[in-house]
Amino acid sequence: MKAIILAGGTGSRLYPITKSINKHLIPVYDKPMIYYPLSTIMLAGIKEILLITTKDSLENFKNLLGDGSNLGIRLEYAVQEKANGIAEAFIIGEKFIGNEACVLILGDNIFYGHGFTGILKEAAKLKKGANIFGYYLNNPEEFGVVEFDEKGKAISLEEKPLEAKSNYVVPGLYFYDNTVIEKVKKISPSIRGELEITDINRLYLNENSLNVLNLGRGMVWLDMGTCEGLLEASNFVKTIQSRQGIMISCLEEIAFLNGWIDKESLQKEGEKIKKTLYGKYILSLIKP
Ligand code: DAU
Repeated sequence: MKAIILAGGTGSRLYPITKSINKHLIPVYDKPMIYYPLSTIMLAGIKEILLITTKDSLENFKNLLGDGSNLGIRLEYAVQEKANGIAEAFIIGEKFIGNEACVLILGDNIFYGHGFTGILKEAAKLKKGANIFGYYLNNPEEFGVVEFDEKGKAISLEEKPLEAKSNYVVPGLYFYDNTVIEKVKKISPSIRGELEITDINRLYLNENSLNVLNLGRGMVWLDMGTCEGLLEASNFVKTIQSRQGIMISCLEEIAFLNGWIDKESLQKEGEKIKKTLYGKYILSLIKP
């Protein structure tokens, strides 16, 4: 399975912060926002990753993450010329995906919770159809909404409905088989002028091949697209990290635990930034 991280868009809901800097590069407590979705992909065990961003931000991302070799992953980059919608990722990424399955994560989504790595690894075993998630929220109208029947089977999907049919929304993490490439060519831009990910999910639903797994109430899912969301995410990360002394989304730690980098590389990465909390944390992982 391959992975795409979508980190383009206009970030207009965060202006003026994002007028001259890409949203996914701004800090969420102690690290750039993009670290969080990247960590999710790495936890799923996926090493081949395409990061899609705007032309203006491309160099900044390359400066931050390079080719990924220091993390034992392979990072490629592509440009989305305009914010034509989330589903455009599969048009831009067609060649990269080749004939494999693909997971897409939105660059402004954080996932955190006990057992989540297992859920990711299971979802990544996908051979046919799609695996997406449902998450209970009190403001579902701002997201893609999924409705279930009494047996818990998904029966409808709507993007930002005026009146939501349920409180369950679809977070920005989607596992698809290779037919996603055909599917994206079948959909047309919505009224807001975007190729909607919800339209892709509806095609899978109509084919009866959409699995929607409910993330339980113990899971944390945050969207960092607004000032409130950004502050909530920073506070969340700070609270958990200070209390437990365990870092959320330390990329080097995940790479090490996955066996993708060795102790020496971990030490090297930590030494580079040893004056920061992040660097000190990396070095603390190296036990004599
Ligand atoms: O966060 C989950 C929600 O994300 C889903 O529940 C919705 O179904 C889905 O449509 C999406 O909702 P938003 O309309 O809030 O997405 P937004 O425009 O904020 O974009 C999400 C991320 O994708 C953001 O990090 C920017 C990036 N993006 C977005 C678009 C439209 C791109 O890179 N390119 C794009 O063309």
